[in-house]
Amino acid sequence: MYQVIARKYRPQTFDEVVNQEHVKRTLRNALDRGRVAHGYIFSGPRGTGKTTMARILAMALNCEDGPTSKPDPQSLVCREIAAGSALDVIEIDAASNRRIDDIRELRESVKYRPARDRYKVFIIDEAHQITNDAFNALLKTLEEPPEWVVFVLCTTEPQSIPATIASRCQSFAFRTVDLEQVIAHLRSICEREGVEADDDALTAAALAGDGSIRDSLSTLDQAIAAFGNKLEAREVRGLLGAIPSEIIDRILEAVCGNDPAGMLAVVDDLFREGRHPQHFCGELTRYFRNLMVMKVAGADSRLVTAGERERQSAARRLERFSSEDLTRYVQLLLTLYQDLQQTTQSRFLLEIGLLKLVYAGRLQPIEKILGSLAGNGGQVPALPAGSGSASAGPRAAAQASPASAAAEPAPRPQPAAAPPAPGADSLKSRLAKTLKDSGHDFIADAVLAGEVEQRGGAVEIRPTAEHRTVLEFGLRDIETSLEKLLGSKPDVKLGSNAAGDAAPPNGSPAAAAPEAEAKQDDAVSRRALADPVVQKFQRLFEGRVRQVRDLREYTP
Ligand SMILES: Nc1ncnc2c1ncn2[C@@H]1O[C@H](COP(=O)(O)OP(=O)(O)OP(=O)(O)O)[C@@H](O)[C@H]1O
Ligand SMILES: [Mg+2]
Repeated sequence: MYQVIARKYRPQTFDEVVNQEHVKRTLRNALDRGRVAHGYIFSGPRGTGKTTMARILAMALNCEDGPTSKPDPQSLVCREIAAGSALDVIEIDAASNRRIDDIRELRESVKYRPARDRYKVFIIDEAHQITNDAFNALLKTLEEPPEWVVFVLCTTEPQSIPATIASRCQSFAFRTVDLEQVIAHLRSICEREGVEADDDALTAAALAGDGSIRDSLSTLDQAIAAFGNKLEAREVRGLLGAIPSEIIDRILEAVCGNDPAGMLAVVDDLFREGRHPQHFCGELTRYFRNLMVMKVAGADSRLVTAGERERQSAARRLERFSSEDLTRYVQLLLTLYQDLQQTTQSRFLLEIGLLKLVYAGRLQPIEKILGSLAGNGGQVPALPAGSGSASAGPRAAAQASPASAAAEPAPRPQPAAAPPAPGADSLKSRLAKTLKDSGHDFIADAVLAGEVEQRGGAVEIRPTAEHRTVLEFGLRDIETSLEKLLGSKPDVKLGSNAAGDAAPPNGSPAAAAPEAEAKQDDAVSRRALADPVVQKFQRLFEGRVRQVRDLREYTP
């Protein structure tokens, strides 16, 4: 009968177990020195070798010429243990034998000597499922077990094993297996099975296991069943629902080119192809996480979970992103992944989540903004420009020292650019009309509210503070409209704010934030609101001061 690859290739010796060196070393030493404990806990992620190791330990203890750290897999005892038919190696699935009665039965059986072999080895799988009462019933046995008994508790949830049990056992934490090691293991199995598989196909199967060898082997089995003895990366990736590189390209283009519409088109295609949104999001997270790791640890880092081809193409894209950008993208995608788990509206959520990636490219680290607030001689930095063509100049800002500002109103700001050339307004109205004609009313209104100036092949738009964000997001449409009007593609810039917009119209500091909710009728509020740094914050974040408190009131 056909035996699945994972079972067919279950390691029979310590050497064959991939990774888990710390466990192998300790067990071998214990066996060689005759210091085998009576209770072990093997914990760790699924499919990483816990049950396998427990069986090898049983072989090592009961092998004809044992106990030995090098049991002979061909010996009768070892073959019986491998086949699960050895009388003295008792495997118990705690998921279905978790009650106190089951444990009482087990305690009874512990009393009797092994039927034939040296030790009675109890391998309790899924040990975290045992009930508390049942664990308590086991305590005494674990504390003073007969000399012929060894318990191995296997679990994926070590935290669920009561401390009273854990403290009577030696614990080993199994680890997920590195991608390279999984790939090498799959390659050797393919060779033995006569399956031809290229490296990328093996990488795809290995990635699907996420560090679990069993899961990777199951994927390999599935791929062989689907495609026979020749596996190609594209097919295996398709089978697993991995994202084709063409989709990745489009996503990166949308992110780098500030192209929300392009991003929405990707989502549309994904849904048409019937892709699973959460799986897709997980894959994309892995991709951006790899970019992030490559950025900070180098393109060759072993922490990158990607095949050679993906690694090379990712390395070529690295320079387009800063490590802050990449960290932000990974964080956004992780949140999206979690949100997708709990929603029935996965399409909307995916759309919003991926649009956030596009918009996140426009953000600047708060540290940078704050740093420039403190150190640029009073110039307020522009709202962050996108990574595309938008390049906003510094906004006009009050040039007041803190001392003078406390006493005097902030001076009226100077517009950073020269006054508009004659005729510029006609360009403004023509631009607004073209925008309106193509359905961009919002952007047209924002253009009309500000100033537009043409200088040779360049066009500068100075928005009002209120409309700056709209113009930033609409920059591509503005470019397209201007290209229509001028016959060639101009270099469009968002300049500093339109004259008179950045400072209070009446020169009063409090008016810098017309919506300020703070009471301004006392001297403390007046002084705080007149502070140039406070004013810069208000302009920069288009915010309001809700409350001004005199900290001295809070000093004991
Ligand atoms: N470290 C490993 N080296 C080689 N093969 C492994 C390893 N871990 C798992 N495998 C493969 O996966 C199969 C299942 O492994 P095993 O039953 O030992 O996993 P487990 O850790 O007990 O998982 P679970 O927590 O799901 O019970 C094995 O038959 C073997 O083919
Ligand atoms: Mg197991």
